[in-house]
Amino acid sequence: MNFEIQRRDFNTLATDCLIIGVNNLEKVSSSFADQADQIQELAELSGFEAKPGQVLALPNFSKNLTRVFLLGVSENASQSELTGSLKSLAKSLLAMPITQIAIDLDSFASLYQGKAKLAGLVVQPFIHSLYQYDQFKSKKAEPKALSELVLLSSEPDTLSQEQRFAKGLRAGATLTRDLGNAPGNVCYPQFLLNLAQSLAAEFSDLDISALGESQMQAMGFGSFLSVSKGSEKEGKLICMNYHPENARNKQPIALVGKGITFDSGGISLKPGARMDEMKYDMCGAATVFGLMKAICVLELPLHVVGVIAAAENMPGGGATRPGDIVTSLSGKTIEILNTDAEGRLVLCDALTYTQRVYDPELMIDFATLTGACVVALGDQASGLYSKDEALSDALVTAGEHSYDRAWPMPLFEEYSKQLESPFADLQNIGGPKAGSVTAACFLAEFVDEDRAWAHFDIAGTAWNDGAEKNASGRPVPLMLRFLLEKADA
Ligand code: BES
Ligand code: MN
Ligand code: ZN
Repeated sequence: MNFEIQRRDFNTLATDCLIIGVNNLEKVSSSFADQADQIQELAELSGFEAKPGQVLALPNFSKNLTRVFLLGVSENASQSELTGSLKSLAKSLLAMPITQIAIDLDSFASLYQGKAKLAGLVVQPFIHSLYQYDQFKSKKAEPKALSELVLLSSEPDTLSQEQRFAKGLRAGATLTRDLGNAPGNVCYPQFLLNLAQSLAAEFSDLDISALGESQMQAMGFGSFLSVSKGSEKEGKLICMNYHPENARNKQPIALVGKGITFDSGGISLKPGARMDEMKYDMCGAATVFGLMKAICVLELPLHVVGVIAAAENMPGGGATRPGDIVTSLSGKTIEILNTDAEGRLVLCDALTYTQRVYDPELMIDFATLTGACVVALGDQASGLYSKDEALSDALVTAGEHSYDRAWPMPLFEEYSKQLESPFADLQNIGGPKAGSVTAACFLAEFVDEDRAWAHFDIAGTAWNDGAEKNASGRPVPLMLRFLLEKADA
């Protein structure tokens, strides 16, 4: 898939398919003075009034423009309207033998208020709709014909970041979605390690290292190992170090991912309904993999490490019992009252290790951490936790610019009281209230006081449930935007 930026000029443009956003038909007609009457007439005949989401197809439009599609958009279209309309249009266009689609950005810019990063918003529905997961189907989906998206703008020079965003998203979010969708019997910790190895073989600026269970045992990863003990699959801590010569930051940005390849709950077994969805419990790790791949493909001038805490949470004979007390890598002791609160147990050791080994300038973790976050925010926004206001603001803004929103949640000290244990330094659950917050507070106990850190609870956003069950690839768009801003700063 190619993403091209071109100067908007309908006299010289030749394409299979041109999409124009329309709020007022007269404005379109003025772009095509020669065909103005024809457009008006066809619009009238077909009852096209440029209502939001309405589409008018103009086949055989001119010698150079095989098809033109007018897409109705309201005057101050919201991101969700814009994205929704483009998604359904993309879906029908991708079913046609169209190899190239050109999008008139200016036509949307004049309608859409939040113009910053418009190009990135407009390409996303196409990138999203191109994705299909048929690895385990005997009958494969038809490959899509589309191979090129052309963005037309009267100011093409301002769009270099947009082009990189599109390219990075296509490479990165596709990997993230593939990993999320892969079943637990295929995608387990060693599978993720193999993937890291193949990425390292593909990209020369990427080095990897990994710890197995015996190494972790010797080093004191008591919290991490309390999770993987109940599974026959060996847990792995996987580190990917992207360090190009032109990296602007000496201290790395660390991205840490929860990689529970299947979460049965362990001895605190989950109920059966929808337990299959717990194959998605490694979507934090999948986010980190997708981002590492995007960074490598785009050759971003940043030093970035990706750390994956990969384990399976199962109720095998060696499994942790509720009430067991373990010593984390940090030295803090943890009373495990619920073995289903396992994400924080693998992450706390991963965070300790990451800080000790890499001393990152910035550390961000991604985790499908709590059902409580799904209750709080649903699938609209990822939960975002950070005591660093500037970092939090930058991440929220990156989310707005990529229609991949995150919403700030509190890390008030008072919540940490819920984690006090009568027997150990802390316990791994904080009771029924504010479950997403207490999980974040648990992680905060393992982050150095002065470390810039943010935590994403992506339990509600990482995959879509229901009939169209599918990994969403979020929050790769948000993070890619954030990293591009860092690279350009
Ligand atoms: N992976 C789950 C969180 C989850 C549940 C994500 C449903 C998406 C959908 C996590 O490991 C978990 O089980 N959390 C428990 C914590 C509780 C025991 C304190 C939860 O949310 O119920
Ligand atoms: Mn769990
Ligand atoms: Zn989990």
